Amino acid sequence: MEKKVTNYASCLNSMPNILVSCRDKEGHDNALAVGYACNCSYDPPMVMVGIVPSRYSYHMIKETGVFVVNLVSEELKKEYEYLGSHSGRDEDKLKKLGMKKGEGVKVNAPILLDCPVSIECTIVDSIKTGSHEMFVGKVEYIHAKEELIDEYGSVDYSKINFIKF
Ligand SMILES: Cc1cc2nc3c(=O)[nH]c(=O)nc-3n(C[C@H](O)[C@H](O)[C@H](O)COP(=O)(O)O)c2cc1C
Repeated sequence: MEKKVTNYASCLNSMPNILVSCRDKEGHDNALAVGYACNCSYDPPMVMVGIVPSRYSYHMIKETGVFVVNLVSEELKKEYEYLGSHSGRDEDKLKKLGMKKGEGVKVNAPILLDCPVSIECTIVDSIKTGSHEMFVGKVEYIHAKEELIDEYGSVDYSKINFIKF
């Protein structure tokens, strides 16, 4: 079969659908949908999230140097879409959606209690790639709903009904 050239942007499939929650230095909380995200180190555990500098969350993450990656299940589709299309610059999105927040154990940022898994991260590096700045976050603590944890203490990802598009 013949192959033809295509557009280049976002050429890897599939992107994870996560919510990154964050806090600014005045204590305001926010969250945004992020597709540019991946594991980037097994030992020590690290993840990477890409944030466009024009996002309101960008300055919050830069200020505090921490963020939380929240995995998103299908039941949170409405919230995911809202947080990915409205800005914390204009309103308190989490309050408007009635989303429940908890406190990070290791980082000064909110965790989203409705999400099945929340991963607290401290920024250890960042790379300005082009459209995004990729923040490398050392995993400091993981909160997982009890029913998702297997006998080895790991998250059983097959039990999460991940959001689909
Ligand atoms: C499916 C999806 C994936 C997205 N991925 C990213 C991303 O990887 N990085 C990013 O900066 N914005 C991404 N966005 C856009 C932000 O979530 C969106 O601009 C959001 O309103 C920014 O919120 P804020 O201004 O409160 O930070 C994505 C949006 C959607 C719907």
